[in-house]
Amino acid sequence: MTDRIQTLVIFGATGDLAERLLLPGAGQLVSSGREYLFRIVGVGRDPLSDEDWRERVKRAFRQAGSMTPAAQRIADDSAYVKADVTDPDDLRRVLEACTGMPALYFALPPAVTMQACRALEQLDLPEGTVLVLEKPFGTDRQSAASFNRQLVKLVPEKQIFRVDHFLGESMVLGMLGLRFANRLFEQVWNRDNIERVEIVFDEELALEGRAGYYDTAGALVDMIQSHLLLVLAVVAMEPPPSIDESSVRGAMSQVLQAAEVHGGDPVAFSRRARYTAGIVRGRELPSYVDEPGVRPENGTETLAQVTVGIENWRWAGVPFVLRSGKALGEPRTDITVTFKEVPHLPKGLKGRERPARLRLSLTSDDVELDVTMNGAGNPLELDRVTFTADSGRSELEPYGQVLAGVLSANPTFSVRSDIVEECWRIIEPVREAWDTDAVPLDEYPAGTRGPEGW
Ligand code: BG6
Repeated sequence: MTDRIQTLVIFGATGDLAERLLLPGAGQLVSSGREYLFRIVGVGRDPLSDEDWRERVKRAFRQAGSMTPAAQRIADDSAYVKADVTDPDDLRRVLEACTGMPALYFALPPAVTMQACRALEQLDLPEGTVLVLEKPFGTDRQSAASFNRQLVKLVPEKQIFRVDHFLGESMVLGMLGLRFANRLFEQVWNRDNIERVEIVFDEELALEGRAGYYDTAGALVDMIQSHLLLVLAVVAMEPPPSIDESSVRGAMSQVLQAAEVHGGDPVAFSRRARYTAGIVRGRELPSYVDEPGVRPENGTETLAQVTVGIENWRWAGVPFVLRSGKALGEPRTDITVTFKEVPHLPKGLKGRERPARLRLSLTSDDVELDVTMNGAGNPLELDRVTFTADSGRSELEPYGQVLAGVLSANPTFSVRSDIVEECWRIIEPVREAWDTDAVPLDEYPAGTRGPEGW
């Protein structure tokens, strides 16, 4: 068994991420019956008593439906430290409040996280300290590489957890079993049999007051660089010999090294758009540019699509379409694998064979496999049949899963330094094409499926 983390320090403890995702995730984890014993230390700039903080922890646990005796104990034992995370003396006080191996979770804006890490250089960190960082990690390949160099001055790479909560999604993890525990799929998981792969995350959610962050990121960085390329890596990687950090992350890194914008042509294989005023599920939304805090001159896209190719024996020529957008009318969040047509259809079978299609939802438990079969009525007439399954969701939500990795100091499903740099490299030509307006910024009314003709 790996060493366990004994203190979870949450920097940015009074912020939205901590309240909405981290504390409920922690509550779920301790209530799941697994043996996690750790202390939570919240750190923030607001003056908060230990009592107030414990109330917040309990509220978050209760909201996640997780107030078991174990969760109650963890909440009662938690503490709050008022501190400026960019001040080494304050950080020293935080470390003094920790017992055993701490995990320092930076639930903070990236610029503050970088300053805090610089301040940590002046301190001696306890043996085994784990650093947990949220996206976006850097603003481009170069800044990510330089931040990576800074972080390994503090702790070894295996103790640095760059969080991608999509790698905690049950269906992304489910892909490992589906691919590697069934001859049925892995044998045909290649360019000879697969026509195209789509990884789509189209949301109804709009900006939701996040202009400060989103208006400088946009859909390309917020979703494609940070999440969907990692999902692609899991879908397309070679079978790892075991599910451990070096095998899995090695396989993900290798496939990403082979990935680039399809045909090396970002103008032909990328698209961008942003929403104008409209109605999403009865909710009236203003145009993106009229949302509070948005600077129209940033030209931020709220919908991005990039087709990626993987230049290796398994995948050469197969398009991987990655797409994500906000304020869309028909939410779609899935991985869809479309197989090739059969090489020959016996004469006498009536109707058209349509290629088989496998669809895994990224937000529910649904798996669907569309196949062509003899339909009802005339048994020689082909029809479409869908096998559906409820794969059974993991008992942990993605952030519970992320924290399970952190607290057991197991970085298998966190993002390694070279992987994050590869993800920035892959989107670099797209950003260049967009910066020079070689790809137009299209528009779509909120509540529709996207721009006409996409
Ligand atoms: C976040 C993005 O990382 O993922 C959001 O910043 C997006 O813009 C979200 O809405 C989607 O994931 P989930 O799992 O929170 O629905």
